[in-house]
Amino acid sequence: MREYDFLVVGTGISGLSFALKAAEHGTVAVLTKKKSENSNTAWAQGGICCVADPEDSFESHVTDTLDAGAGLCNSQVVKTIVESAPKAIDQMMACGINFDRQDNGNFALGKEGGHTQRRILYSKDTTGKEISNKLLKAVQECSNITILEDHFAIDLITTEKLGIEGKNSVVGLYTLDESTGKILTFRSNTVVLCTGGCGRVYLYTTNPNIATGDGLAMAYRAGANVANMEFIQFHPTCLYHHDLNNFLISEAVRGEGGILIGKDGNEFMERHDPRGSLAPRDIVARAIDHEIKRTGEPCVFVDITHKSKEYLSERFPNIYKTCLSVGIDPANDPIPVVPAAHYQCGGVQTDIDGRTSLNGLYAVGEVACTGLHGANRLASNSLLEGAVIAGRALDNAINNKNNKNKVSEQIIPEWTSGNAEDVDELVVIYHNWDEIRRLMWDYVSIVRTNKRLKRAATRLQNLRQEVQEFYWNFKICSDLLELRNLVETASLIVNCAQLRDESRGLHYTLDFPKTKNSSQPQDTVIRLQK
Ligand code: SIN
Repeated sequence: MREYDFLVVGTGISGLSFALKAAEHGTVAVLTKKKSENSNTAWAQGGICCVADPEDSFESHVTDTLDAGAGLCNSQVVKTIVESAPKAIDQMMACGINFDRQDNGNFALGKEGGHTQRRILYSKDTTGKEISNKLLKAVQECSNITILEDHFAIDLITTEKLGIEGKNSVVGLYTLDESTGKILTFRSNTVVLCTGGCGRVYLYTTNPNIATGDGLAMAYRAGANVANMEFIQFHPTCLYHHDLNNFLISEAVRGEGGILIGKDGNEFMERHDPRGSLAPRDIVARAIDHEIKRTGEPCVFVDITHKSKEYLSERFPNIYKTCLSVGIDPANDPIPVVPAAHYQCGGVQTDIDGRTSLNGLYAVGEVACTGLHGANRLASNSLLEGAVIAGRALDNAINNKNNKNKVSEQIIPEWTSGNAEDVDELVVIYHNWDEIRRLMWDYVSIVRTNKRLKRAATRLQNLRQEVQEFYWNFKICSDLLELRNLVETASLIVNCAQLRDESRGLHYTLDFPKTKNSSQPQDTVIRLQK
């Protein structure tokens, strides 16, 4: 059994920021199921919000966030995070992270949907890579931090599972060491889930393959509250191309003047919202879905051909190069795009300090639901949330005496595989995986109905049972673990969606097309019933 003061799962901005701060107070293990550089953060293009222009204000950033969130944001959480941005940016720059500057030395500021001001700090169109590389370097140089790659966190160990009375507390976790195939036991009083989101639950997504809802599913199985999973954000502009189907065309392209047009060359967003191509994402994604269904065309286009090749290759080098690689020159050709699953706005319910409903368990970043995003996340607020809440979670963890409930090593049993055999037919895993992603896309995406949700729920129930049988009878491998988490996460999305009898933000259903007129709209909160 291995013991650490802090156990962090995930190597995105949240996990690495937490680890760096925690290392000043004790030993830290950072677990990642693949390699350290594999994270959603590393794929972020747009940037990170921070009020930095004299014309801008915290109030304006708060208002834009609340507007995008369609009445479901926690305004205190929004205010705290927005006001913490300048300090978080200073700390990031102290780690060597560079943001682009104007000729006068001020930050260059980008704009995205739903923002009334330019307030997005960026590093060309690979902001996430810049953040991830620099944080990773700092973590690798820190002697108190052990990074364990190819360690797939399987399940949390809780006092409830150990039969210990009192408030349920997390005291460690089991992981699969993929290099040896062994299951290891880790002990800690502070476990921090920074596992990102679940885009892979859908057939089309802008997320990397790793985004399979692992932390969310694990926390749910351990008994933590999960909230607002019906709010899955579909990014309006994922590249539409048969050779490259999860490449994002950043909203920043529209922020610099890109216009959404149909195949006929006509702008169509003005018909849907006066803010046109830069309306909040829920509105733009729904409008594109509508246009695609109306015209029967497979995609729409982002037209930025009025900008020069020199400008585009300098401001968006990665997008420009990638488009060229598949035969599209953004300086001459409108870029074909479709909406794709992009961001999980709900998650493990936490307070402003990342605390979940279980003692000793924190969740930070996309895996968590703090109340910042409400029913629809404002673009580029998420990296900010990860950086700010990581710091607050650490402060809370070191000051919270509830986390100090030391459970003796003897009480925690080592993992036993019983009579489990090697998986004989991997085809079952891949078949079920495909089926989940297809059914979620067909029944639970941008436009929903009661009937579609019911169909999805019934099918997922069967799949869940099948996966469960597989899980108990066969030796664990990472594909099986991902499938188990994927089916759990898909079920949570459907369950939450079935509980919301209105359309709000990203949850749009033809059966309840209106938003309920309520001064205090409710979160959808669910917990495993035992
Ligand atoms: C983008 O660059 O369009 C994505 C930014 C975000 O999702 O916040």
